[in-house]
Amino acid sequence: MKIIEARNYHDMSQKAAQFIIEKVNLLASPVLGLATGGTPLGTYKYLREDHLNHHTSYSHVYTVNLDEYVGIPPDNEHSYFSYMKKQLFDHIDIPRSHTHLPDGMAKDLSAECHRYEDLIKLLGGIDLQLLGIGMNGHIGFNEPGTPFSSKTHLVELTSSTRKANARYFDSLATVPFQAVTMGISTIMESKQILLLVSGAKKAEIMAKLLNEETNKDTPASVLKRHQDVIIIADSDALALVKERSRSY
Ligand code: PGA
Repeated sequence: MKIIEARNYHDMSQKAAQFIIEKVNLLASPVLGLATGGTPLGTYKYLREDHLNHHTSYSHVYTVNLDEYVGIPPDNEHSYFSYMKKQLFDHIDIPRSHTHLPDGMAKDLSAECHRYEDLIKLLGGIDLQLLGIGMNGHIGFNEPGTPFSSKTHLVELTSSTRKANARYFDSLATVPFQAVTMGISTIMESKQILLLVSGAKKAEIMAKLLNEETNKDTPASVLKRHQDVIIIADSDALALVKERSRSY
């Protein structure tokens, strides 16, 4: 894993956007794996600005998102589809038919999981997967204990994840209990992975990730087994890593 230290959230976001733009300019038909949540908001803002000011084109880009809530219609403001439209898709020239998220409204969710895996294969796999990390080490909605062999699957959200995401909803009671997420093995099959980590609240999980051996209780630790992972973390997120390495 290669670690790039950013000064702060904005610096992290700028560096991540630059990384994505280079990939978009380099490849003939890049497949980007995208993430939602608070961490990539700044990255998407820089991508929007860059598209406006430097006209980077996304007409040849395909996207697959990590996850989607179950039971929230795409046009509902809380769906990850709405998030992606608002933060990125509505502001760049990507054809809507090139953008994909799991369908959390599918009647047969198990068939939907298979369809999503097949779709990723059909697109030729993910060239660059953007990831955040949960405070409990989850990636996508792969909570602690998820088998490393998992493909796209239906998950019951843990209460800590529901609480963490309640800030986007009117109340905790309205946060969905289930989601469809790419599995750990789906993520690990990406050719390259870009993990973004920001803020003091992620310092503990960063220290755990970097100091512990790969284990199922910290799903993100599986990334140590991938040959091309870049972590862009800001100094607040790296504070404990540095403190602990100084005390050895
Ligand atoms: P966050 O979420 O970016 O909102 O911190 C990350 C995650 O839970 O994967």
